[in-house]
Formats: sequence, structure tokens, C-alpha cells
Amino acid sequence: MIRISTIQDLQQEIASLRSRGGKIGFVPTMGALHEGHLSLVEACIQKGDHCVASIFVNPTQFNDPNDLRNYPRNPQRDCELLERSGCHVVFMPSEAEMYPEPDTRKFEFGEMGSVMEGKHRPGHFNGVAQIVTKLFDAVQADRAYFGQKDFQQLAIIKTLVAELHYPLEIVGCPIIREPDGLAMSSRNQLLSEEHRKAAPIIYQCLQEVQSRVGTCPVVEIEQYIESTINNHPLLNLEYFQIVERNTLRQVSTIIPENPLNACIAVFAGKVRLIDNVEIIL
Ligand code: PAJ
Repeated sequence: MIRISTIQDLQQEIASLRSRGGKIGFVPTMGALHEGHLSLVEACIQKGDHCVASIFVNPTQFNDPNDLRNYPRNPQRDCELLERSGCHVVFMPSEAEMYPEPDTRKFEFGEMGSVMEGKHRPGHFNGVAQIVTKLFDAVQADRAYFGQKDFQQLAIIKTLVAELHYPLEIVGCPIIREPDGLAMSSRNQLLSEEHRKAAPIIYQCLQEVQSRVGTCPVVEIEQYIESTINNHPLLNLEYFQIVERNTLRQVSTIIPENPLNACIAVFAGKVRLIDNVEIIL
């Protein structure tokens, strides 16, 4: 695996990979890698793509300075994991490399960008769009791999790529979970022992949503989730919504033809965790 820190070196290496034939697959990350990230690398390699991963903790997408400061960083271990997974190139730029000038671009995603994460993390998706467009321009991949764990991010990136006419296929990959159901996340390592024990309740709630959908009104499901999470002394619900999979519009009644996801954000102490499930009707 080759480690690269400048866009110029990256583009040279990618040109040389291309000259050997095959497609370029791109896996953008913020590091502190776990099996969720590595599943994207595996999906990329399984497709037969040359795999380029990036590790960059993007400051412009953090609406909370403490979250940015505390974000786990372990580049040495990350590189070992990527290498073992068969990744070909890892791009680890400095902040000056990605933002030689402050990025003043503003992206507008309409309703899709103003609900859920967009509502509770102002500016977050603008920062995500700033960095992914810069990374897409630098890598010029044929395919980019994203996790369904960040369901709204995936929807927004698909919209961005379509609107900006990037010749890039966005591949969505399933959520990888711990054995107790907790969705893997770099932030899980920030949980205290007690909060870690409580955190699987989030996925249990989503499974309960699946079993209740169709048998009781949406509003009752929402009340059930709110009371289950908020009655737990260590958990605090930020939002729970059942939304249309493609538009992210919140639904108040279930229409069987309409593909839906149930999305949740919970504070376990100071650590914010998100999760979602596809609802099967
Ligand atoms: P990060 O949180 O590091 O996630 C990188 C990619 O890994 C994202 O596509 C995310 O959805 C995926 N991922 C994380 N946990 C996963 C899990 N448990 N199962 C499957 N996939 C999972 O998302 C970002 O970084 C940033 O916003 C980024 C796109 C890199 C832009 O800075």
C-alpha cells in the first residue's frame, strides 16, 4: 500500500494505476477505522477496483468544536488495517493541502438537508459537501463507497453527484454492527463502560419499530421510542423519524408502496450516536 499526502502525488499514482487498466474505487473516511469502514474497502476490492482510501478529519463538517477536538485519531493503526484489507493507496492530506484557502462555497440540499442531521448539526452537510467534492476532484474515481450507517449523508451525496454531473457511481454498503447490535462507529470508543452497555438499546428500539410498523399508528411508535430512550437514565433522544427512503420526508402514515427508513439520533452521555434501519413492509 502506498501512503500519499499531496494531491499532486495522488494524481500521479492514480494515473499510473489507470494505465494498468481497471477502475478506481474510492473510500473516503475520517479514520479511527473499524470493520464498518473496512467493509467498504472489501466491497471496493470485491468489485475489482483499485482501492484508494482517504483519512482526513474534516474540520468544516464539525458543528461542535469539542467533537472535533475529541474525535479519535490513530493513523498508524488505520494504515495497518487498510493494508491488511488489500487497499492500494491511502491518501492522508494535511488541512493546508485540502484547504489552502478557506472554503466559502455554500451547498443547498433543500428539505433533504434541513431535516434530522441537517437540523441538529447546522452546517454539517455543507462541510461534508465541501470535502467530498474536493476529494472527488482529487481522486477522479469511477466508483465511491459509502455506508448506509450515515443514511442521510448517502442520500445527500447521491444528490450532489447527480446535480454536479460527476461521472461517478455511488455505491451504498450495509451497516456493520457489533455482536450486540450497536452500529459500529468511531465514536463508540469514546463511550464510558456504562454508556457502552446502554447503547445497544438504540438498535433494539429500531427492531421494535420494525415489528410495530403496520400494527399501530406512527405517532404511537414515536411515543414508544421517545419514552423507551428517555426513561433510560443514561440515554437522551435527539430525534426519531420514519422517513421516505428517497426523499427523507417524514411520514405520519404507512403506505405499503413507499420504501421507508427509521432514523434515530441519541446522546449516550456526551457521545452522539446515530443509527437507522430499512423498514420491510
Ligand atoms: P466516517 O464517519 O469515517 O465514515 C466513513 C464511511 O464509513 C462513511 O461512508 C460511513 O457511512 C461508513 N461507515 C461508518 N460506520 C459504518 C458501519 N458501521 N457500517 C458501514 N459503514 C460505515 O462519513 C464520514 O467519515 C465523513 O463524513 C466523510 C464522508 C469521510 C467526509 O468527511
